[in-house]
Amino acid sequence: MEDTENIFVKLKDRGSVFENKQLLDPRFLPSHLPHREEQLTSIAKYWIEALNNVTPTDITIYGKTGTGKTATAKIAMNQLKEISLNEDVFIRTEYIRCTDYTTENQVIVRLCQQLGRDVPSRGWTRGEVLNAFRDIFKKNAFGKNMILIVVLDEIDILLKNDGDGLLFTLTRTDNVSILSISNHVEFKKYIGTRVKSSLRDKEMVFPPYGAQQLIDILSERAKLSFKEDTLEDDVIPYCAALAAKIEGDARYALDLLRTTGELADENQSDTVTVSFVDEAKDRIEHDKITDVIVSLPAQQQRVLEAILKLTQKKEEIISGKLYDAYEEISRGDSVSYRRIFDFVNELETLGIISTNTVSRGRGKGRTNIITLQCDTNVLKDALSS
Ligand SMILES: Nc1ncnc2c1ncn2[C@@H]1O[C@H](COP(=O)(O)OP(=O)(O)OP(=O)(O)O)[C@@H](O)[C@H]1O
Ligand SMILES: [Mg+2]
Repeated sequence: MEDTENIFVKLKDRGSVFENKQLLDPRFLPSHLPHREEQLTSIAKYWIEALNNVTPTDITIYGKTGTGKTATAKIAMNQLKEISLNEDVFIRTEYIRCTDYTTENQVIVRLCQQLGRDVPSRGWTRGEVLNAFRDIFKKNAFGKNMILIVVLDEIDILLKNDGDGLLFTLTRTDNVSILSISNHVEFKKYIGTRVKSSLRDKEMVFPPYGAQQLIDILSERAKLSFKEDTLEDDVIPYCAALAAKIEGDARYALDLLRTTGELADENQSDTVTVSFVDEAKDRIEHDKITDVIVSLPAQQQRVLEAILKLTQKKEEIISGKLYDAYEEISRGDSVSYRRIFDFVNELETLGIISTNTVSRGRGKGRTNIITLQCDTNVLKDALSS
């Protein structure tokens, strides 16, 4: 009988530059965040009041994507939880991601459930849910007042979707302290005056990381996640420099480093070299564009297909020509000429195409020229997947 080799044994023996790849996963929460000590201390200085049985002041954190807002807030929560076990206080911290709980009702129901109340996810009136929530703060078995610290991550999504009712409810409930996290500084335009007056929050801004800071962040993570001596010296500085260009985003920097290591493994290389970083950058971009295109509605994909066809024929893409090409692809199932240009605008916002208005000379008016902004092969693959 032929001896078949176990595929897992074969793959396992191939070796890897990683010691523990999990540590580079975006969901992994490190216990220490370089260059966020100051921000963590600021949060702790407000929250320490809870240890004296005083409800802490509300906090609002702003910052661009990947600047460590969520990670810092979660570390602060964990550390407060840890210390409050040894103190004579009753503190609860709850984390709510407002992309998962998008209305006041969903958040309050979730909080009730987390705090041990038997509230159904649907079926109760707003009044019933609010009563159940307020009730938590009246009675408790320990004879002590509970202090609740709620982290509302990506709060701008909830405010846009459901208005400021949640903030009204929370700010008007004694013993509740809010930490809101937002990507946009302007999110407060969604808050009305009646809530503004009761939200006496301290604001904090998380600045983007500079290249040197990203080097420190990546080095600390790489120490445990890669095997010794596998990373060439210039890999981390190069990843950091690229990420610093993209608005100081630590998530991107970590993604780049992890993908670089994966490419080294795929190429069965014992060392991670700078050339893999360039390849990793292309792969991430490729995946990102593919994700966007795949999730577009069918009509919009057809517009892109038309743009791709014309680009491959090296034709100058003007409105009329685009519509003709689109109609041909749609074979009778097409939307109006006007609608197409809404699509074109949306595709431009997504960065997949750009438009440029040019003048055709006296009396001939102006016309829009559309240019594809992503690689034709990437687009072709995405549209056919
Ligand atoms: N100073 C740091 N040290 C180590 N890792 C960090 C640091 N800052 C951020 N990270 C890591 O980078 C990733 C992104 O951080 P985080 O999720 O906190 O960003 P964010 O500001 O909440 O971004 P977003 O606005 O997109 O939600 C996480 O995996 C986090 O662990
Ligand atoms: Mg976040």
